[in-house]
Amino acid sequence: MNRDEAIKILKEHVKTDNLVNHCLAVGAIMKGLAKEFGEDEERWEIIGILHDLDYEYTKDNPEIHAKKTVEILGDKLSEEEKNAILAHNEHAPLKTKLDFSLYAADPMSGLITAAVYVRPDKKIEGLKSKSLKKKFKDKSFAAGANRENMKKIEDIGIELSRFFEISIESMKEIADELGL
Ligand SMILES: [Fe+2]
Repeated sequence: MNRDEAIKILKEHVKTDNLVNHCLAVGAIMKGLAKEFGEDEERWEIIGILHDLDYEYTKDNPEIHAKKTVEILGDKLSEEEKNAILAHNEHAPLKTKLDFSLYAADPMSGLITAAVYVRPDKKIEGLKSKSLKKKFKDKSFAAGANRENMKKIEDIGIELSRFFEISIESMKEIADELGL
């Protein structure tokens, strides 16, 4: 499966533009993290793109969110990839770098998107990691973006400030696709 095929599968299951954009943003951050670790960038991006595939089917049943995605994708995912998707909704322990990265990238994409929306130009281009750090510290800002989950990135050796940089730069690379 390549990126285009992953997006095609995503759009077969997810009809909300905002959710598609969230998945693309998480994919971009995952790609940036893979680059940082010297891992397979396209594979990591694909896991980000697909992580919320079942969201519209499970929104009234959050306890099966992620389990359903693994069921739908079946053999298209390796065991490690299945674990990462399950772990992002606390259905499996965080073990590998892939697991921790997805767990942290998910809320990070939400924080960045919210930070862009309050900018006068509503563009990611001028967003700096310093200003994102301030937003991170303001617990009332984008309160749904779980700070503790984002901090988990430190468990795999990436400082939070570096995580902000990687995430902003990665989302900038697909700013047009994200409409940011
Ligand atoms: Fe997500």
